[in-house]
Amino acid sequence: MVVLTDRVQKRLTIETSEIAPDTTTIRSLDWDRDRFDIEFGLQNGTTYNSYLIRGEKIALVDTSHEKFRQLYLDTLTGLINPTDIDYLIISHTEPDHSGLVKDVLALAPDITVVGSKVAIQFLEDFVHQPFQRQIVKTGNQLDLGNGHILDFVNAPNLHWPDTMLTYDEGTKVLYTCDVFGMHYCSASTYDDNLSAIEADYRFYYECLMAPNARSVLSALKRMDKLGEVTTVANGHGPLLRHNVEQLVGNYRDWSQAKAKAEKSVVVFYVSDYGYSDRISQAIALGITKTDIAVEMMDLKSADPQEVQEAVNRAAGIVIGMPPTTNSTTTAAVSTVLAAVKSKQSVGLFESYGEDDEPIDPLRSQFRSLGLKEAFPAIRIKDTPSETIYKLCEEAGTDMGQWLSRDRLIKNMKSLDTDL
Ligand SMILES: [Fe+2]
Ligand SMILES: [Fe+2]
Repeated sequence: MVVLTDRVQKRLTIETSEIAPDTTTIRSLDWDRDRFDIEFGLQNGTTYNSYLIRGEKIALVDTSHEKFRQLYLDTLTGLINPTDIDYLIISHTEPDHSGLVKDVLALAPDITVVGSKVAIQFLEDFVHQPFQRQIVKTGNQLDLGNGHILDFVNAPNLHWPDTMLTYDEGTKVLYTCDVFGMHYCSASTYDDNLSAIEADYRFYYECLMAPNARSVLSALKRMDKLGEVTTVANGHGPLLRHNVEQLVGNYRDWSQAKAKAEKSVVVFYVSDYGYSDRISQAIALGITKTDIAVEMMDLKSADPQEVQEAVNRAAGIVIGMPPTTNSTTTAAVSTVLAAVKSKQSVGLFESYGEDDEPIDPLRSQFRSLGLKEAFPAIRIKDTPSETIYKLCEEAGTDMGQWLSRDRLIKNMKSLDTDL
């Protein structure tokens, strides 16, 4: 069923449609939006897609932009009594998807918000009210009943650190929010007209995903472990159903091509330890503001071979100090030390996890192996403030610029010759 509620003067409309058993999409169609972020000009508007899954328990996946407040909430309450919703799954906390979380919580205060650790932290910053939460990560499941077993996959840096994908084993629908999206508004729920959407799909990838091509490849690897995907329930544009293989394959091909061509930094952090994840993400964000790619790796869960390969292909290495008491992370740091080469750069930071390995001995080891320090060690002695995160971001940018300098010098030399 497709219901179009037309508001001609603002051209904001809502479409609801059954996309799979017990599964409804609520698509907010923003026909005229012509700007998204600073440089992201839109020709074809956009949509904000939200989903309702009704097992024995009921889950809402993402919400909408606040400009749809009335339309979205009217539509939602027309479909379901909000207090019947058990879970609100947050794939990503940017306001185009989470702009109405506060409103949904006001209607259904007992709802449990499900998201990555970072998503829940970000939400706390703008919801400013207590809410029930369940932090999930790759490999965790949530059983809604009636066959709707949800599998979660973390997808950090696609394009925010909080991003998470959700796969419904019962319907084979993969909920991806910004990933595999496009800014394209039309009355079609699905990708029936591939030639109409291809250019916007590519442009969106280039703007949002290409800077983190290596993270895209890591997320695809984790996605491959899920079952068959028949529908990609994205957060923007038509859902992918007719061209899933090709359009998902595009991400793989484009990212492989980019990853091959780029210099990269591998950022090692320790999940669930102090502020390691948020600090590492701030540094990563700073690096991606330059031309350098980033690969994030959790010292707790990466296997030694992965660590070694990541260090081998990286131009720079960032390490968040692990706890002294964890043998897995200590072993992972030894693997890093054994794999580094003298031309690489290194940056170290403390996590403020109360039991951090001291920075200086590791610094001297890297120095004696011939590595250059890309930024002065970041020593966190208190709960990090926004200013500290900003400084971490700047340290990342410094490192990226340092690593880009060879190419810059080469470009300048060729410019000299041209002149
Ligand atoms: Fe986003
Ligand atoms: Fe978005």
